[in-house]
Amino acid sequence: MQAEVKDLLQAGQELTDAALERLLPPETQVPTSIHKAMRHSTFAGGKRLRPVLCMEAARMVRGNGVLPEGVEELGAAIEMLHTYSLIHDDLPALDNDDLRRGKPTCHVVFGEAIAILAGDALQTQAYQVLARLRCPAPSVVEIIRHISEATGTVEGMIGGQVLDLEGEGSRPTAELVDAIHRAKTGALIRVSVVTGGIYAGATKEDVDRLTEFGRKAGLAFQIVDDILDVTQNSEQLGKTAGKDLASDKATWPAVFGIDASRKEANRLIQQAFAALAPYGPAAEGLKSVAAYLVERTY
Ligand code: IPE
Ligand code: IPE
Ligand code: MG
Ligand code: MG
Ligand code: MG
Repeated sequence: MQAEVKDLLQAGQELTDAALERLLPPETQVPTSIHKAMRHSTFAGGKRLRPVLCMEAARMVRGNGVLPEGVEELGAAIEMLHTYSLIHDDLPALDNDDLRRGKPTCHVVFGEAIAILAGDALQTQAYQVLARLRCPAPSVVEIIRHISEATGTVEGMIGGQVLDLEGEGSRPTAELVDAIHRAKTGALIRVSVVTGGIYAGATKEDVDRLTEFGRKAGLAFQIVDDILDVTQNSEQLGKTAGKDLASDKATWPAVFGIDASRKEANRLIQQAFAALAPYGPAAEGLKSVAAYLVERTY
């Protein structure tokens, strides 16, 4: 990994973690079991890629190299939504996983009922944070609209999870796996960069370019998640490897094979870069994070 992107990721992770620490109720807050569960999954060791993408998009749109004040709270809210999706993804009724971010999953430690509620609670907490964002009120409303749509049932995260579950065991087509990946994972990645841009005062043109960038990068990200499930082990991933084959999931490698999947992820990242050409050097940070999405090993 290049030194600059490593520093950028680390700085973004620290900023995100400090915001999450402030914005989540403490473990001592009654009822303590749910706050412990929310914190267990949030602080188990995620890469914080969505907040970093969000913040780098904001930096690019602002154009002076500086992060807009308070944008890490938007990143933290997105990370809460992502963590909620992981807690529910791991439940016995969904993917039934017992390892996540290198730790036992939420339902393994706290039981299924509290894990379901911890996911719900991270979602409502995220909207509390979004409603208080420090950007102009019309932008706050726009951000909430985009995020609620991207995590919803129509081409959003929940809709994608439904397609993913219902696609288990059937022979996947290219169209199906494309629809699953764009919705279950691509939509939240796309909205991370789009809302980061809106926070920083994006024009309609900026939103269109970030949408195009986010669509390509988001799909590439899930293709790589599928590849890593085959090529890495559980210790490297911090989650159960080989799970997709065992569950007969509709994945990119299942349809196209590993080599073609790698090529497609790289091609998508090049297309994502092209969408940022008008920003010139101001896009370097965001592009370096996008490159990391496909170079990562976990
Ligand atoms: C994993 O996402 C779940 C998917 C949407 C593929 P990440 O790979 O970003 O997981 P963390 O946040 O680093 O744990
Ligand atoms: C998860 O996809 C997508 C969401 C959590 C919305 P996966 O089921 O492939 O994610 P991992 O591999 O368990 O992290
Ligand atoms: Mg899943
Ligand atoms: Mg899963
Ligand atoms: Mg996966």
